[in-house]
Amino acid sequence: MLDAGGQYCHLIARKVRELGVYAEVQPSDTPASRLAGRKAVIISGGPSSVYEPGSPTVDPEIFRSGAGVLGICYGHQLMVHLLGGVVERGEKGEYGVATLEVHAPGELFAGTEPRQQIWMSHRDLVTAPPPSFAVLAGTSTCAIAAMGDAERRLYGVQFHPEVIHSPRGKDLLANFLFRICRCTQDWDPSHQIPQLEEEIRAAAGDRKVFFFVSGGVDSTVAYLLCLRALGPARVRGVYVDTGLMREGETEAVEQMFASLGAGTVTVEHARDRFLGALAGVVEPERKRQIIGAEFLRVQEHAAERWHLLDGHWVLGQGTIYPDTIESGGTKQSATIKTHHNRVEGVRRLIEEGRLVEPLHSFYKDEVREIGKLLGIPPDWLDRHPFPGPGLAIRCLCSEADFPFSRLQEGWVMPVHSVGVQGDSRSYAPVLALDRPPDAEAKAAATDLINRLRGFNRVVALAASHAPLAAMRVRASVMCETRLERLRRADAAVRRISRAGGFDARIWQFPVVLIPAGTDDRPDSVVLRPVDSVDGMTAESVLMPEPLLRTVAEALLALPGIAAVFFDLTNKPPATIEWE
Ligand code: XMP
Repeated sequence: MLDAGGQYCHLIARKVRELGVYAEVQPSDTPASRLAGRKAVIISGGPSSVYEPGSPTVDPEIFRSGAGVLGICYGHQLMVHLLGGVVERGEKGEYGVATLEVHAPGELFAGTEPRQQIWMSHRDLVTAPPPSFAVLAGTSTCAIAAMGDAERRLYGVQFHPEVIHSPRGKDLLANFLFRICRCTQDWDPSHQIPQLEEEIRAAAGDRKVFFFVSGGVDSTVAYLLCLRALGPARVRGVYVDTGLMREGETEAVEQMFASLGAGTVTVEHARDRFLGALAGVVEPERKRQIIGAEFLRVQEHAAERWHLLDGHWVLGQGTIYPDTIESGGTKQSATIKTHHNRVEGVRRLIEEGRLVEPLHSFYKDEVREIGKLLGIPPDWLDRHPFPGPGLAIRCLCSEADFPFSRLQEGWVMPVHSVGVQGDSRSYAPVLALDRPPDAEAKAAATDLINRLRGFNRVVALAASHAPLAAMRVRASVMCETRLERLRRADAAVRRISRAGGFDARIWQFPVVLIPAGTDDRPDSVVLRPVDSVDGMTAESVLMPEPLLRTVAEALLALPGIAAVFFDLTNKPPATIEWE
């Protein structure tokens, strides 16, 4: 996979691996000589235009290397540009579902229908293919949506076969890999376990390995692999209880490790330290800084206490493939890495190469497969991601009291939350619609967020004890009472959502406490279920009405909760967390 610009690239590489072919991501300009022996090369999509100075390019030698080449979206245009065809700047672009008419199926479209749904997302357009290329398929607005030179095994598609909205996309990738490039279907991550154990033993030598485990899938699987490779006497895990965990989380982590026979995880109880440092803090970035700094202190302390920094130890980390490549680092990984890397002593270990990262070449789904074979219970492996700073970023605070104000479209709720537009962060109030969160409300939300300025989120009112007119935002800080209120709300939502089968349909389900309410019920809860692939973008997912009613009733029965809101906003312009 040659990476011409970010996130698409990993999605394609993952699909290729799912098809049983090992794939690696490399920078787009990797010299052809370094790709010698590869059977198939795919050039990814990306946000640039081939005419922009400095836009990603590839070594044209790859087209003569004998490997099959498939260009996707930008990759397709780049092939055309480099091989003598014409790409024109599009004025308005084409985004979304389209119908592809296949004129010449050949090997690429073999076994698929002559008319098929595809997903387009492009501005520029190929208007003439390079000499020797045949046009294979087109749409009503894009005549050259697929092209190929069967002799040289070079192909390009304007659409995105890697996304689910191109239902036959996976067949197209399979045709490219197996029919055109003659790849062998021999990649199965679960077969890698013996080799991973071997690599761990080689990296550790006669030393021991310690981990900071979080209960998340990656660090758990990496830890268990080390345990299998080295035995319990040579592996130690340290888990930090920050007091910002969900209900029962620390106990569940302890139990999970105990049930796997991994009796070497120690819990560092640091609740008082974290809550003390956070007392009275309102500003979200400040919260993050404090939590980061406390993490470092606790880790350093643990490392000292267990003498983990001397020559007998190496550090184990659950770093996975997208984290190891610059372009793909997600926010989670970056943050987790910062925590670990910044500990002075630990940074030294990394510099000295005293680091074991057994999962560095795997994707998350592959890590889950390995975890299943290691005996980790499926419901643990399928857990939604949970952010390192925990409930702190889901417990919103306010400097002072503020009234709600009425607009024609809804109410301005003066709770500030974080959003993201382009690369920049926004921190803006919320627009609350006085109507239930249904499909119509969602459509209205999308329209309003584009039309009105000054908001980055729209919520709808799912249920409440008091009318919005009677509510206001109240001065509030992070405190144990509010954290406990959030913890109970989160536990209730999770219980109902899991039992109702809703959890399995979404990627993550933050439950947020906001300081909006009445005198006797000062807070409200926001439900934030989203679907996503990697957390970089996300879509708000509506809940079935009966399930939402059950959730809302359970929440309104809790003390201190005035109302239940539902976040209808996608990311961007909002973020998944509210902060
Ligand atoms: P946002 O709110 O930026 O979140 O849309 C994207 C994803 O990242 C998670 N997240 C974090 N994970 N440490 C983590 O381990 C963090 O500091 C952190 N902040 C956000 C968030 O839960 C979502 O999945």
